[in-house]
Amino acid sequence: MTTFAPFSDWLAGQEAPEALKTVVAAVAEECVAISRVVSLGALAGALGVAGSVNVQDEEQKKLDVMTNDMLTDRLKGCAAVAAVGSEEMDLIEPTGRQGGYLVTFDPLDGSSNIDINAPVGTIFSILPAPEGRAPAEADFLIGGRHQVSAGYAVYGAQTMLVLTINEGVTGFTLDDQGQWRLTHPDIRVPADTKEFAINMSNRRHWAEPVRRYIDAALAGKTGPRAKDFNMRWVAAMVADVHRILMRGGVFLYPWDQREPDRPGKLRLLYEGAPMALLIERAGGKATTDGTQPILDVVPTRLHDRVAVALGSANEVDAIAAA
Ligand code: F6P
Repeated sequence: MTTFAPFSDWLAGQEAPEALKTVVAAVAEECVAISRVVSLGALAGALGVAGSVNVQDEEQKKLDVMTNDMLTDRLKGCAAVAAVGSEEMDLIEPTGRQGGYLVTFDPLDGSSNIDINAPVGTIFSILPAPEGRAPAEADFLIGGRHQVSAGYAVYGAQTMLVLTINEGVTGFTLDDQGQWRLTHPDIRVPADTKEFAINMSNRRHWAEPVRRYIDAALAGKTGPRAKDFNMRWVAAMVADVHRILMRGGVFLYPWDQREPDRPGKLRLLYEGAPMALLIERAGGKATTDGTQPILDVVPTRLHDRVAVALGSANEVDAIAAA
């Protein structure tokens, strides 16, 4: 019978600073607690809106608020964390400690899926904190290449944790005892694909190259791409990116003309950068437009947005060429 190593054994074997491992372990443990609340749904009083809006002017769901508090409290209690930043909070929250790490997170990505029992997830990113002084907001604005770890938990048909701490991308599945078990030791994104993910209802608002790329894919075998494509859209980035890590594909959330001054809908620090690190380390490409790597985008503010075109490397090149 196959045995699946516990997460703690795997983590102990990683070549990484012990302090970083304690932060990754704290996130992983809190994701187990979040998965329980998510799975209980109405039974935990967790469905519906909280009656507040976040810094992005989005209506917060009860679970957005609950999971944000859970992760914030957990990480503020972690000795190696100097400050946290969240999609759900206006400002960073320093812990009063110096050195160690900064953690950013989207505590519940895809929260419009909560009430309909479709997949949601938690995304996290870890940056080095400055030594010898208290962290400031500017310390979070150093660009995705500086991430020392990133990952997500997806609360779906199975609950999985996918992360990178060294070179590779590794996946764990939550067992019935509440333990993460190593099930996906070396996740790689296939270079080619026939599957794309985009919110098609926004087609009329996109820039011309994105429209050209999607129209060519939709034209199928008899069109310029000479192959039939399939489309998937979960409406939770975490689940769409998970599918791409499992079987390839591309995911796009492009700029659109309704808000011309905004690069895109998704958040750079909490969504774009961590997912870009995972996709790149799994052999895929993660760009703003098919060309510019998301990891090279340096934010100017905590809640900056970014356009996203990521996934199977050859297909991201096709987006660039459209
Ligand atoms: O955080 C934003 C988010 O929920 C992503 O997870 C997801 O990809 C996107 O919004 C869905 O947006 P739309 O409303 O366009 O489907």
